[in-house]
Amino acid sequence: MSSRTTTRRFAAALCTGLLTVSWGAVAAQPAVAHSDDDAAQWQNATPGNSGDAGRPDSPGNSGDAGRPDSPGNSGNAGRPENPGKPGAPGRPGGDDDADQDQCAFAPEGGRTSYEADRDSLRAHSDDDIRIGNVAAGGGHHTDEEYPDPFPDDADYREHLAEEFSSITHENYLKWEFVHPEEGVYDFEAADAVVEFAQAHDMDIRGHALSWHSQNPEWLEEGDHSPEELRAILEEHVRTVVSRYAGCIQQWDVANEIFRDDADATIRGEENIWIRELGVEILDDIFRWAHEEDPEALLFYNDYNVDGLNAKSDAYYGLVQEQLDRGVPVHGFGAQTHLSMQYGFDETYRENLERFDALGLHTAVTEIDVRGEVDEHDRMSDEDRAGAAERYARVLQACLEVENCNSFTIWGTLDAHSWVPNTFPGEGDATLHEGDYERKPTYCILQRTLVEHQEGTEAWAEDAAFEECRGILSEASV
Ligand code: XIL
Repeated sequence: MSSRTTTRRFAAALCTGLLTVSWGAVAAQPAVAHSDDDAAQWQNATPGNSGDAGRPDSPGNSGDAGRPDSPGNSGNAGRPENPGKPGAPGRPGGDDDADQDQCAFAPEGGRTSYEADRDSLRAHSDDDIRIGNVAAGGGHHTDEEYPDPFPDDADYREHLAEEFSSITHENYLKWEFVHPEEGVYDFEAADAVVEFAQAHDMDIRGHALSWHSQNPEWLEEGDHSPEELRAILEEHVRTVVSRYAGCIQQWDVANEIFRDDADATIRGEENIWIRELGVEILDDIFRWAHEEDPEALLFYNDYNVDGLNAKSDAYYGLVQEQLDRGVPVHGFGAQTHLSMQYGFDETYRENLERFDALGLHTAVTEIDVRGEVDEHDRMSDEDRAGAAERYARVLQACLEVENCNSFTIWGTLDAHSWVPNTFPGEGDATLHEGDYERKPTYCILQRTLVEHQEGTEAWAEDAAFEECRGILSEASV
């Protein structure tokens, strides 16, 4: 019996009340272990950066998260007793063959369609290009004075639905959030994003199944044998992927596995899985994920792979070998955290193209373009224009590469962006002003999409785009 079958049976049993699960509250978030170079790693997130750490503390690893205890999702998640996908209200579950591709979090009647305004980004996104953003919450947000934006701010959620056709859990699917204690899963925050996506016709990029950062302390500081770690990892991957089978279209299966050194060496020390289980474990992670959701596209994802360079070469070589071995690797994600302090790599598209030529999907997974800011947290006009141009060039590259079908912006308001926390003195990296007014960066994406789909006349003449035409001309873009 496949684990999916197991899961469905379990869900059916839950619905009919045959099984009871202890839905006890989950303990508050424990402190999270940091690997030594956590604080420094993204300082280096642009070629040419000297890597001067300077960051007071590690992004996202704020320790006690201050989130309310989660009802409903705790308890023993081990297989085969793993509850996996819940019997969503009104869904029968337990039918082994019927709704294989149906997301368990879909509303009655299936994923809801969404009527987008003509001047929104999502109105110009289709199967060839999904335009995404993050569901902000967890991570560095827990250190901020505002409550988590996604669960607590209806305007923010409305804005996401109006503008984007894809969404990523910024932090809520990372190990420290979803697997806070050994044997205990907390899916409450992650489920809410999935339900939202289903209710607003959005795809999801799942982020991330394995990483060296934002892991819980019980894992990083635990005393597990390699065999135990392997079992923990397999159970985690199967539990999380099966729960969201049919809901999550792309998974970041292995995040940031290479370093930024000249040879792009594998993170054999800081990545617990590679350190303890060897690099071969990557094959297994992809295979387990594929078994649990054969439809999901399985990705590598990293920063500083925004062109032909040592790090993207390392991925290229690794993926080639894995494909030769029949490992189900389907995609390569370029995070694309850019800074106006550094140049733009002219080989951006060429890099995506070579992965495309391997038969892979590619995606722009976390784009933001930051720059030095003034006392109003604003870049110079010149940098703003330059940032807009970079957004457009990256989108254009993705549009031109056949199987680059997903373009995700890492934040919609600067107030929620990870940039000011992680790169002190830099900011202004996202698409909107604090009151959701559109920046040139937003408008240039709108223009690029419209021109790509409907031609330059549509952009230049349609009244729907008048606002952005004005914003771009004022910004001299
Ligand atoms: C960041 C989040 O945006 C922050 O909220 C968190 O504090 C740290 O992580 N590469 C990744 C993302 O793959 O998971 C990171 O997200 C940004 C860099």
